[in-house]
This record gives sequence, C-alpha cells and structure tokens, in this order.
Amino acid sequence: MKELRNKIHAENQILIIFGVNGDLSRRKLLPALLQLYVDGLLPQKFAVVGSGSAEKNEETFRSEVKEHLAKHAAEAVEQFPEKTAEFLKILYYKKVNNRVKEEFAGLKDYAFSLCQRLEIPENIIYYFSIPPFMYEVVAEHLVDYEMNSESSGWKRVIVEKPFGYSYETAVELDNKLHKGFREHQIYRIDHYLGKETVQNIMVTRFANGFFEPVWNRSYVDRVEITASEKIGVGDRGGYYDTSGAMRDMIQNHLLQVLAVVAMDPPAVFDSNSIRNETVKVLQALRPIPKSKISKCVIRGQYTEGIHRGEKIPAYRDEKDVAPDSMTETYVAMKLFVDNWRWSDVPFYIRTGKNLPVRVTEVVIHLKPAPLQLFKQRCTSNPANMIILRIHPDAGIAVDFGMKIPGAGYKVQNVNMDFHYSNLAQSKIPEAYERLLLDCMVGDSTLYARADAVQASWKFVDPILNEWKNNPDIPLYFYKSNTWGPEEADGLFENKRLKWQAQCDKFTCEI
Ligand code: BG6
Repeated sequence: MKELRNKIHAENQILIIFGVNGDLSRRKLLPALLQLYVDGLLPQKFAVVGSGSAEKNEETFRSEVKEHLAKHAAEAVEQFPEKTAEFLKILYYKKVNNRVKEEFAGLKDYAFSLCQRLEIPENIIYYFSIPPFMYEVVAEHLVDYEMNSESSGWKRVIVEKPFGYSYETAVELDNKLHKGFREHQIYRIDHYLGKETVQNIMVTRFANGFFEPVWNRSYVDRVEITASEKIGVGDRGGYYDTSGAMRDMIQNHLLQVLAVVAMDPPAVFDSNSIRNETVKVLQALRPIPKSKISKCVIRGQYTEGIHRGEKIPAYRDEKDVAPDSMTETYVAMKLFVDNWRWSDVPFYIRTGKNLPVRVTEVVIHLKPAPLQLFKQRCTSNPANMIILRIHPDAGIAVDFGMKIPGAGYKVQNVNMDFHYSNLAQSKIPEAYERLLLDCMVGDSTLYARADAVQASWKFVDPILNEWKNNPDIPLYFYKSNTWGPEEADGLFENKRLKWQAQCDKFTCEI
C-alpha cells in the first residue's frame, strides 16, 4: 500500500473529528492516523482538530490520546516512539457543544486560523464520529457558518454508519446533507469496503482470466456469505438494542460485500463506474414477499452459554438491553439477485454474535461435474468451492478433488490456499487507514453512494417492518457459543447442504 499510495498526492489539509472523545475515535481513527503518519502517508502539512463537548486544553488532550494509542496502537507506539511523539504534536483540540449553533463560530475561527498559522489551504475533512441523530444538526451548523463553502479549499464530510434507520430516514438524511454538501463531498463509510480482502475480491475476479468465466449462474450453484462473531454486544447494548443484526451488519456490510461479489466488471476502474456496477446489484435484489419472510429470513437471539468454563450472559441480561427485548443478534437469510448473471442462484448470508468462532468469508459453491465418475469421495461435497476468506488469515482457497494415492479412485477434496499475508512486506493496513487516506485524496470508490445505501434499505425495510408488526414471526433463541438457531439450516432446500463455515471439510463419508 505504501508504494502504491505514495504515488497519489494528498493535498495539505486538516481533519476535524467531531466526537473525538468517543470510542470509535480512540479505538480506530486515531490509531489509523498514527499508522498513516508512521508510514509517511499523511499530507506534508496536516493537522487533526479533535472536537468534543468536554472542556480540556491541548496538553490534556494529547496526553489522553497518548494513553489510548498505547492501548489501541501498541505495536506502532512501541516500535516508533519518536514518530508517536511527533504525531501527538499535530493534534489540536477545540471544545464544541454540537447542539449550540453559536459554538460553530468559535470552531470556524479556530480551524481557519490554524490553517493560516500552519500555511494549510482551507481543505477540510469533517468526520462525524457522533451519534447518528446529530449528523444533520452538525451539518446544519456547518452550513450556518458557511464552513461547507468551497470558495477557498475543498470540504468533505465523512459519515459513519448507521446511515439512516430505514429507507425513509436514509432519504431524509441524504436530503438534509445535500442542503449543504454535494454528493461528491459526502463520504459514507462502510469499513467492510475498506478491508483489503474485500477489495481483493475485485482483483481476484477482474485481474484473472480463469475465475470470471465460471462466475455466473451457469457454473455457480450457490453463494454463501458468513460473518460470525465470537463476541456479544458488550457495552454497546444501548445502541444495539435499537439496531439489531439486520441494521448493524446486513443492511450495510454484508450487502456491500455481496454487491462486490456479484457485480459486473466496470468498463473502467474508476469510482463512479465501480459504484455504478455495485448499485445495480443492490437494485436487483429480489424483494422477499411478506408471506415468505418467516421461511427465508431466520432471526435469533443469544441466550446464556459457557465459553472455556466462563459463563456468557444472555443478550437480555446485557447492560442497557431491555429484559424482554426482541432484538435479533443473529440473522440468516436466503436471497436472490434478479439479473442476467445470477438469476435463480441462491445467496445465503448470515451473521451473528456469540457464535463459536470469528470468521468472515464468502464461499462460491460451483456446480458439481456433470457426471460423478468417481463414486468414492472423501467429503460430503462433490463440487468445487472458491473460498474468499476475509477474516481471519485473509486469503483465497480453491477446493477441488484429487485422487488419494494407491489403488482405486478415491477422491479427496484438497485446497490450493493462498494467504494474503504472504504478499505484504508489512502488516496489512486496517480498513480505517485505507478509508481515511482515500478521503484525503478525494477517492470515494470505497465509500457507499446514496443510491446504494437507499437500495439496500429498500430491500431490508419490508423484513424489518414485518418483524415489528407480525408477532407470529418467531425469534429463535440460541445458546451462546453455538452456531445459532438450527432453523437456519432449513434455508437450504437440499437437506444435505450445510453452512460451509461450520463444516469439517475433510470428514470421510465413504
Ligand atoms: C460494526 C458493527 O460495524 O462491525 C459491530 O457495529 C460489529 O457490531 C463490527 O462487531 C464487525 O466488524 P469486523 O471488522 O470486526 O468484522
């Protein structure tokens, strides 16, 4: 990445982080900025203005950040103590109560005079690391003081997920943001798109001649996308209980991954062309009729469990979660992309918290060979798979049958397994590093466009509404540290099929 990005010049600029004292900024944004600094990828003249409601001076702010970096960017801090000290010096702080319009006058003065002092043009990124209900308030206040004006220097806004709570609220939010900012100034972040391995799906498909010919309904039997998490909601119960797995993971991350897996090749590799292709996939998602929702979409919620002798609390016992909560912590669903390439190929996607392992992967199941000449096969799966592993151990595996040496023709499935880490001289960049840098250089390819966000809300909204309004749709409870409700297996029409991420591939069936 270093070599590649060095060729792209990020103009001098400042970054204002609203909500700098929050969890996201401490755990992800500031560590990502430190790493970019260490790698020499930040613009030559650059400053971060942290903005929060707490009163504190620069010195206190910097020493607090130092502590957080020691925790969340330990490797960089230990390896590069001098660079870390230099990095802290480009951090500034301005107290702003986001609800009070007049305080933005102070922020404007502060930011613009900082630009002048550091001889940085008024190129500014505003990062909204704040609760979603504050997005429009902050955007409005920025507009009130013409801080959106590009008369001298460009202005960009990065908006965190969730982007809206439904189709309607997403459109509303877009309209409000568009009052002050044009679409090319708005960067809707989806950190899954910033993952190297998600981007690599495009390279795998479009830089090679041999994947793409089979990447369609003629050869693909089904596609599986799993994002299983080992952790529960922890201390995010307050947010999660109003969100649930559908809004938290599926509407954004997994549907974006699906779009990258299913998209057509763009005519040219630029932001608009790529996003034109992914949005077409999202617009082609076949709506699930009300009558089929309980059959095609399985929701679950974790109950108590045990992991390594330790008790895991039930979701309903988590902090800030309603004791009778009906929020789903697990979703598995079957869906279709109604277009020429994918017509009638089922896509199975699932995500859940407190499952036994953390794994994020896409499995392309190819159709079996037209005739099974070799009857003895050491696996329940006589077909080939292409496994795109996003986490852990990012890479690609191609699974195919080979003859077991010796008499007869016993076939065993083996793997050609590529580990992405073999390709990188240094560590693979974190999603936030990549995304922040892209915004700095004005590349929005890996950010979600308004039409894509709206298309995915359009698809999930009817499901969420039906769950809310129809008490007959079950919420299945599953024990923590298990693979979720058994009913999710029922999504496969062929009862011999199983979710790949929980299969032991080499179980001998002969
Ligand atoms: C976040 C969700 O967007 O993604 C979390 O809010 C989830 O609930 C996280 O745990 C998963 O991201 P990753 O990168 O750890 O797979």
